[in-house]
Amino acid sequence: MIKLHDLEFKPFIEQSAIEACIERMAHEISMDLSDEVPVFIGILNGSFMFVSDFVKKYPKPCEVTFIKLASYEGLKSTEDIHRLIGLTQDLSGRTVVILEDIIDSGNTLGEVYRIFKNENVKALKIATLFFKPEAYKKDYKLHYVGMEIPNKFIVGYGLDYDGLGRDLPEIYQLKSTQHMTNIVLFGPPGAGKGTQANYLKEKYNLVHISTGDVFRFNIKNETALGMLAKSYMDKGELVPDQVTIDMLNAEVEKNAGANGFIFDGFPRTNAQAEALDNLMNEKDSQIDAMIALEVNDEILVKRLLERGKTSGRKDDADESIIRNRITEYYKKTAVLKEYYAAQNKYYGVDGVGNIDEITERLSKEIDKL
Ligand code: IMP
Ligand code: MG
Repeated sequence: MIKLHDLEFKPFIEQSAIEACIERMAHEISMDLSDEVPVFIGILNGSFMFVSDFVKKYPKPCEVTFIKLASYEGLKSTEDIHRLIGLTQDLSGRTVVILEDIIDSGNTLGEVYRIFKNENVKALKIATLFFKPEAYKKDYKLHYVGMEIPNKFIVGYGLDYDGLGRDLPEIYQLKSTQHMTNIVLFGPPGAGKGTQANYLKEKYNLVHISTGDVFRFNIKNETALGMLAKSYMDKGELVPDQVTIDMLNAEVEKNAGANGFIFDGFPRTNAQAEALDNLMNEKDSQIDAMIALEVNDEILVKRLLERGKTSGRKDDADESIIRNRITEYYKKTAVLKEYYAAQNKYYGVDGVGNIDEITERLSKEIDKL
């Protein structure tokens, strides 16, 4: 993964695949042109790397030159006019092959045809390394297309995002979601997870997804997923992971513009952790860390008994029930600790102290991500 300015990009096309593609194009074009000595014209800036590699692979004599796309402000302040400049050579009677790095809307190509209208060339051929068919709005023929790619923004191999990325030897694609920080927050009952999640979501502009809250919301509002979940609960059965994942997916979708998420109450099993990884992966995103609040058992028991005095929660009133819940927690979450530790994503944080101190410790870990 790379970051350019404010955006994240993921690896998309390897150097070797680009090379093979250019090899193929050079071969195909040289076969078509047989003994003709073509003039290859690259369109700057984006095509510099492609043209350089292409002519090295071109097996026959050729000429190479460049023109540049310049942007002027139009007569009306709202319209931008793009003009190709730098065509100074007499090309009458020549076979010209335009080498483009990428054809997107086809506007640049329109400009190519405009400037060649009166050049009296023998033939004008268009070759592009990358082509986005879904974005193409013109009907000029493209004689040689290296690779068709989806309509997503790419960088590298000459292509830039606001000036950066042209130097990269391979192609990267813009991530479809830009969640920077996704955390699984863990902690035994009484560790202060809810309290800390509230501070962290403010501080880092994250969305807190508590599985318990999501369940209650879906059931209360009788959503399709809520009704489905309830049908299992009414039978006394566990809600299948896929139903929970679908609910989480809906929450993530609802907050597509978020900086990231704090998952709380999920995953609880290895299978769920894998399902969550898959969900994030589908969104070009990832879980960055499992952060676990670590609190000594005796302190937890004391905290929960204290809370039980005022909260009215029955499970906070009885010491042996509390101890059981804590034991259960460690039994169940040990595997998850292993799961995330194996990916170097487990961070244990001392959960004893006052609230600010603990927030501070958590922030230190998050800032490092
Ligand atoms: P068109 O005129 O819309 O066909 O776009 C061609 C020009 O837009 C290219 O020469 C690039 O400069 C730029 N462009 C189009 N798509 C991308 C992309 O995915 N990444 C970087 N630049 C792009
Ligand atoms: Mg270009």
